[in-house]
Amino acid sequence: MAAAAATSLPLFLLVSTLIAASPSPSSAAAAEPQTPQDLLLDFKASLHDPTGALSSWSPSTPYCNWAHVSCTSATAAANATVTVSLSLDGLGLSGELSVSSLCRVPGLAELSLASNGFNQTIPLELARCGASLISLNLSAGAFWGPLPEQLATLASLVSLDLSRNSFEGQVPAGLAALGSTLEVLDLGSNRLSGVLHPALFGNLTGLHFLDLSGNQFMESELPPEIGRMSSLRWLFLQGSGFTGVIPDSFLGLEQLQVLDLSMNSLTGAVPPGFGLKFQKLMTLDLSQNGLSGPFPEEIAKCSMLQRFEVHENGFTGELPGGLWSLPDLRVIRAQSNQFTGRLPEFSGGQSRLEQIQLDNNSFSGVIPQSIGQVRTLYRFSASLNELNGSLPDNICDSPAMSIMNLSRNSLSGTIPELKSCKRLVSLYLAGNGFTGPIPASLGDLPVLTYIDLSSNNLTGGIPTELQNLKLALLNVSYNQLSGRVPPALVSELPAVFLQGNPGLCGPGLPNDCDGTWRKHRGLALAATVASFLTGVALLAVGAFAVCKRLLHGGEPSSPWKLVLFHPVKITGEELIAGFRDKSVIGRGAFGKVYLIELQDGQSIAVKRLVNSGRLPFRAVKNEMKALAKVRHRNIAKMLGFCYSEGEVSIIYDYLQMGSLQDLICAPKFTMGWKDRVRIATGVAQGLAHLHHDHTPQVLHRDLKASNVLLGDEFEPRITGFGIDRVVGEMAYQTSMASDLNYKCYMAPEQSCAKNPTHLMDVYSFGVILLELVTGKPAEQPASDDSVDIVRWVRRRINLADSQILDPSISRTAQQGMQAALELALRCTSVMPDQRPAMDEVVRSLCFSVHPQTLLPTEIALEP
Ligand SMILES: *[C@@H]1O[C@H](CO)[C@@H](O)[C@H](O)[C@H]1NC(C)=O
Ligand SMILES: *[C@@H]1O[C@H](CO)[C@@H](O)[C@H](O)[C@H]1NC(C)=O
Ligand SMILES: *[C@@H]1O[C@H](CO)[C@@H](O)[C@H](O)[C@H]1NC(C)=O
Ligand SMILES: *[C@@H]1O[C@H](CO)[C@@H](O)[C@H](O)[C@H]1NC(C)=O
Ligand SMILES: *[C@@H]1O[C@H](CO)[C@@H](O)[C@H](O)[C@H]1NC(C)=O
Ligand SMILES: *[C@@H]1O[C@H](CO)[C@@H](O)[C@H](O)[C@H]1NC(C)=O
Ligand SMILES: *[C@@H]1O[C@H](CO)[C@@H](O)[C@H](O)[C@H]1NC(C)=O
Ligand SMILES: *[C@@H]1O[C@H](CO)[C@@H](O)[C@H](O)[C@H]1NC(C)=O
Ligand SMILES: *[C@@H]1O[C@H](CO)[C@@H](O)[C@H](O)[C@H]1NC(C)=O
Repeated sequence: MAAAAATSLPLFLLVSTLIAASPSPSSAAAAEPQTPQDLLLDFKASLHDPTGALSSWSPSTPYCNWAHVSCTSATAAANATVTVSLSLDGLGLSGELSVSSLCRVPGLAELSLASNGFNQTIPLELARCGASLISLNLSAGAFWGPLPEQLATLASLVSLDLSRNSFEGQVPAGLAALGSTLEVLDLGSNRLSGVLHPALFGNLTGLHFLDLSGNQFMESELPPEIGRMSSLRWLFLQGSGFTGVIPDSFLGLEQLQVLDLSMNSLTGAVPPGFGLKFQKLMTLDLSQNGLSGPFPEEIAKCSMLQRFEVHENGFTGELPGGLWSLPDLRVIRAQSNQFTGRLPEFSGGQSRLEQIQLDNNSFSGVIPQSIGQVRTLYRFSASLNELNGSLPDNICDSPAMSIMNLSRNSLSGTIPELKSCKRLVSLYLAGNGFTGPIPASLGDLPVLTYIDLSSNNLTGGIPTELQNLKLALLNVSYNQLSGRVPPALVSELPAVFLQGNPGLCGPGLPNDCDGTWRKHRGLALAATVASFLTGVALLAVGAFAVCKRLLHGGEPSSPWKLVLFHPVKITGEELIAGFRDKSVIGRGAFGKVYLIELQDGQSIAVKRLVNSGRLPFRAVKNEMKALAKVRHRNIAKMLGFCYSEGEVSIIYDYLQMGSLQDLICAPKFTMGWKDRVRIATGVAQGLAHLHHDHTPQVLHRDLKASNVLLGDEFEPRITGFGIDRVVGEMAYQTSMASDLNYKCYMAPEQSCAKNPTHLMDVYSFGVILLELVTGKPAEQPASDDSVDIVRWVRRRINLADSQILDPSISRTAQQGMQAALELALRCTSVMPDQRPAMDEVVRSLCFSVHPQTLLPTEIALEP
């Protein structure tokens, strides 16, 4: 025979390899016969055994008593007819296997090296085990390379498991020589490729179990010879690139219990008569292929069938009628085919169906009432079909019902009270023609989590009872619902799931229930902020107009032009008079900051920009106007400004607590972690507001601890932003360059970058965050140990036990401080694109640094 001739050559090669390999060190002294004990110890010596799993293998105990060794009779230790079994599964072994000694152990019948980490090809010397080896298991042993023909010499093998390795190449046809003794052949989950040789299977007539699955590089038709292995009970051929049709010969596999041909590229029709002889078939999986045509009625003869999976094919016609009443059937998965016809009446008490999935077909007609009588049903999905009529009110009579998906059919009528659905988790009824109200009783279903009722014609309100549920999804968009949305639902869900119901009202919706309509902005927060900003803008412009009138009515010839955006009782003269050295409370690149007490007791801070770039009044006024419109609880209020030819002074609200720099540079800086987080979060929120809520973006460009003023309870307010816009870019650059102090707030790219970016501000923020985490000022130009905080931290961060976090803060805050430190390091990253944007910084601060300090809802509430 051609096949026999083909195998003789490799066998000859094997013999020569063995001869060539024989003068190994261990067999050099082979003059005296080695005992099984010695041979096993030889084998052990070739293994790397990191956990000492084989430590009981020692010459002093009989080998049959060793761990993982078993003998048929421990007392017959010296008798050659004893059979030995080695189960070394999952012991973490590796190393270069020396099986030549192992195979000389008399009576070695079973060898399992499964689930270890040998990183090698199959040792060819395994062929020496041929005489006695009955079972060889190398599953998940990290083996690779081709499958050697020599395996065919293991003539007594009953079970060969080579699954879950990285074997590659073709399955050697020579394995056919294993003949009818072989019962188990598992080659699944490897990298085998090519075509299956027909001769391989004709001879393996004793096979019960064949697994070739998960070899995705295989490109083969299903060999009809497989159908001749008439003892096959388990046939796993899924996910292995099989093409062509299911051979007729398969119909004769009368012992089959499991047939899995899924996830291949099979085409054509299932052969007629399929199922007629499968008296023992329990699982049939033909899913995810290109099979077509109607499914043979004979499947209904498989009286033991439990799972019927044919989804994602091109089947047409009706599902075989007898299928539904098979007594053991639990699962029908037929979704994404072109099945037509009606759903059957269910034989109530007898049915054991648990899952019915018929989505994406063309089933039509009504949902039979009898479905409620299937007591085991837990999933019923038939979305994307043409079902009509109403939803049976007993649909949940199955105490197990958990998932119901009838979206996108033509169902009509009202949604019944689903009071008995105690296990219902998902209710999807979107895209039908349901009318009437949403039943309030849905709120009583204890585990209901996903509700999609969108795109129907539902009317009435959203029941407040739904607030009882811990919902992950509520989609009621595109109905005709009306009335107030229950507040808890709004705060938990994005409003988009309510859209398309013009009658609904509530916070965040176009209609806020008070009869006023807002510009639609999607999120509740966005809407609130937007309305707030609009109000402020109107206020600022109004105040400006008033002041301007007053000015013009006053002294037109004055060298000073004073513009106020808020009522402040001060004249230009009083302002100038206030610029006295003893009132200086701060110095910056652009000049000094003065504290001026007004007659009515109010205090204002005035930032005097000496090098003001001599921009014309009109330009300065426009910029000031724009900056004054920036309003946020963490942005210092700009009250007005004073203009003369060479100088601009900006008037801010004064905060009694002074600046963050004052605090940090104080001789003894002590502040609790909670207050520090409040400051960091406030500054981040203010900065995020500048960056993200304005078009064009407002950049700060001079953020530092002295520009963070502190109000009550350390609520911070950012000041000194946008100065570049008031003095002009040139004057800004010169001033910054001349300011040698506080260089360490400047992002490294700032000196060479063409244009300023928001990521430069993020860097400055990171420096402030480092100050808060370490308790050290960013820079102390005067002191000997000149601290540049970024460098100081970077130097220490990789030293094992260096103290970076402020030691004055209790250890309980350690976790939050560590998170803040990591955030600060990201913000001060040298590469700008590694830095997070400010809105992300805000989220990190709120959720990882100190979740207790500020809850997300608190952030949403603007003053
Ligand atoms: C080995 O076993 C055989 C039968 O199984 C028996 O006849 C023989 O006496 C045994 N030899 C020894 C040394 O125990
Ligand atoms: C296997 O061994 C090769 C070298 O022989 C090595 O490059 C590879 O990383 C090893 N693989 C594993 C998983 O240890
Ligand atoms: C091979 O060993 C693995 C791991 O112990 C086991 O799961 C598998 O069932 C074995 N194979 C056979 C055919 O017994
Ligand atoms: C088929 O098996 C028989 C023994 O069962 C053996 O003699 C014969 O050579 C095998 N054929 C092939 C093609 O390996
Ligand atoms: C519906 O089934 C067809 C094949 O019959 C498939 O192409 C399509 O992706 C499926 N649609 C969905 C939504 O699953
Ligand atoms: C459902 O549709 C079928 C046609 O497919 C029609 O004959 C029947 O009257 C419809 N039933 C209902 C309740 O609308
Ligand atoms: C319900 O069916 C729709 C349409 O086929 C699908 O988009 C949705 O994911 C399904 N939901 C569940 C929970 O299966
Ligand atoms: C909803 O009702 C309107 C008229 O009341 C009708 O035009 C529309 O087709 C209905 N939509 C659905 C999905 O049944
Ligand atoms: C809600 O339903 C609408 C309409 O069916 C759909 O467009 C939208 O994607 C759904 N949203 C979610 C989150 O399911």
